[in-house]
Amino acid sequence: MGSTCVVGLQWGDEAKGKIVDLLCDDHDVVVRYQGGANAGHTVVHEGMTYKLSLVPTGILRENVEAVIANGVVIHPPALLKEIASLQAQGVNFEGRLHISDRAHVILPYHLAEERLTEESSSAADHLGTTRRGIGPCYKDKLGRVHGVRIADLYRPADFRERLARIVEYKNRLLNAMLPDFEPFDAAAVAEEYLGYAEQLRPYVCDSTSKLHEAVAAGRKLMFEGAQGSLLDVDHGSYPYVTSSSSSAVGTAPGSGVPARCIDRWIGVVKAYTTRVGGGPFPTEQDNEIGERIRRVGREYGTVTGRPRRCGWFDAVAVRYSSRVSGSTELAVMLLDVLSGIEELQVAVSYDLDGRRLDVLPASLADLERCKPVYETLPGWSEDLTAARTWGDLPRAARDYVDYLGRIVGVPASIVSVGPDRRQTILVPKDR
Ligand code: IMP
Repeated sequence: MGSTCVVGLQWGDEAKGKIVDLLCDDHDVVVRYQGGANAGHTVVHEGMTYKLSLVPTGILRENVEAVIANGVVIHPPALLKEIASLQAQGVNFEGRLHISDRAHVILPYHLAEERLTEESSSAADHLGTTRRGIGPCYKDKLGRVHGVRIADLYRPADFRERLARIVEYKNRLLNAMLPDFEPFDAAAVAEEYLGYAEQLRPYVCDSTSKLHEAVAAGRKLMFEGAQGSLLDVDHGSYPYVTSSSSSAVGTAPGSGVPARCIDRWIGVVKAYTTRVGGGPFPTEQDNEIGERIRRVGREYGTVTGRPRRCGWFDAVAVRYSSRVSGSTELAVMLLDVLSGIEELQVAVSYDLDGRRLDVLPASLADLERCKPVYETLPGWSEDLTAARTWGDLPRAARDYVDYLGRIVGVPASIVSVGPDRRQTILVPKDR
């Protein structure tokens, strides 16, 4: 026991990387269990800024091992590029990065398939994805016939033969659907990927057994969620979600480690809400408030650079995702961004055609019609970035954090007032 899961409770970008980095000192192994290079973490560590996408944040600590587990989808060129750029910043990977031989591989036709849905079809069907081939790769994983796993890359003859059949199928499909489509050359793709496999060889292993051994040896694991719980394919705002179990429910299938091995479940939230890409967002502020939050919080996508949509804290959505993810505590991030706003609003329920809703409805059409019912709280004018203890925060900021804990049903244990490790406040239990 003693293992932890850190997961976002909103639509991603909750600054989970900072929490994972902070808690690394108390853990031995950091595990990514779903998603792929659609995720982007920025971590400021000892004055250096690191951009992480597929590589778990734990890699920044010499004494921590990092695992990319079976639930992740890997685009080998993207991963190799990330490894090279972190190595150029002085990060040591030797014996510390482990990649599951069961993880699925993103191939070039996955990117083309995503273009097909995101560009060529009716605008109403566009999801606003990160275009990293994530959805098409998971589709092939669940479809089984065309899925390719990391282990397959180490049986070259079988891989070449099978890829020839898959590519023939994909070429026929894409040729019929995409104007100006250049067919893929199966042999060339196979050689390219066999080359990547050689470069990745030192890291590839049976990560499931490795994690079981770590648990048996009493080592502490930290599961690092990517995206957020509201983007979970089952429990999020479907179909405007990612294609994996991005809430905490994904830890077991995505790593092979049973949930009973985890006892601390940290739900990370921003003090407000953001969302990138399409989909319903009941508390969105497409106005001066939203612009102010975007400007002060520098709310632009780490992966795609897209401006994030911004709005008030949505306690209906977070209460729901916190239950799904089984949060035992909240980390409230970016509280400093709200300084100077006279009155803060928090959505406490939704109004759906005159009916009061306390949870997210399943139907997209219903969620789009939900009107938030707000509670208004007093804001504060003080700059919070120099606060280091709970007592350093102005009364209204403390009350706001306590209110979020009460309305979500899970108390806050950590508050963040800036990107640096020192800009972190541990919330006292007896207050
Ligand atoms: P996909 O994961 O690229 O298929 O994109 C599906 C949806 O998830 C889109 O709305 C993306 O903007 C969103 N998304 C994917 N990854 C992240 C992330 O790391 N942060 C925030 N949103 C994300």
